[in-house]
Amino acid sequence: MIQPIIAANWKMHKTIPEAVAFAKQLKKEFPEPGRVDIVIAPPFTALRSVMEVLKDSLIHISAQNMHWEEKGAYTGEISAAMLVDAGCKFVIIGHSERRALFGETGGMLNKKMHAALKSGLKPIFCIGETLEERESGATFEIIQKQIKEGLNNITPNDIRQVAFAYEPVWAIGTGKTATPLQAQEVHGFIRKTIAVDLEYAHASDTVIIYGGSVNPESTGSLVDQPDINGALVGGAGLDFDSFADIIRIAGR
Ligand code: PGA
Repeated sequence: MIQPIIAANWKMHKTIPEAVAFAKQLKKEFPEPGRVDIVIAPPFTALRSVMEVLKDSLIHISAQNMHWEEKGAYTGEISAAMLVDAGCKFVIIGHSERRALFGETGGMLNKKMHAALKSGLKPIFCIGETLEERESGATFEIIQKQIKEGLNNITPNDIRQVAFAYEPVWAIGTGKTATPLQAQEVHGFIRKTIAVDLEYAHASDTVIIYGGSVNPESTGSLVDQPDINGALVGGAGLDFDSFADIIRIAGR
């Protein structure tokens, strides 16, 4: 049985007091081990304060990005060890905003994957096609390429630590969720690619979450699909009531 993940990606939102208030509310609302793993990804500035709130809870903290080097002259960057130090268990790698707006390539993401795993962080590795790629029939080819590049030379033992997030670029922040069947089709393909191209024998246990305009209304039918093991939530994860609803629905 796969334990689903519901993760909120706060992107460049929330001050420290706002992040702390949200974390306190979450901890109060979900004090017991549930049927989903709850993860929040605050901005770097709030990680440490959120960790102080959540350290004795079951809610996990994720970073939204990291650099692959351990230390050095990389102004503005944060290493995996620094994230562990700040209380992170997860790190989002390869979000489409990082790929599109900050020029992150498959090769760079592969270096980040290696560095994250070496430090004991669990990557949430994001993949997804643009609208243009979908309309030209290239979805599967793009997904396969992103997986093969990002996971190049990652050992089976390390693949065990990775969660995949299918986030069609056309569905992110647009209010346009993929239909459950559209998402399932790609999730099934991702699982097959992990099994065949990465030669990973336990692909049936890999967590594959969906992201792109997830809200309380769409959550139920998405997580009912056999290969959808939770959600990476952007906009709806900034609002406590919506995020709590999504957690409850996914944990039914
Ligand atoms: P969204 O963002 O839910 O606002 O579409 C999802 C994401 O970017 O992870």
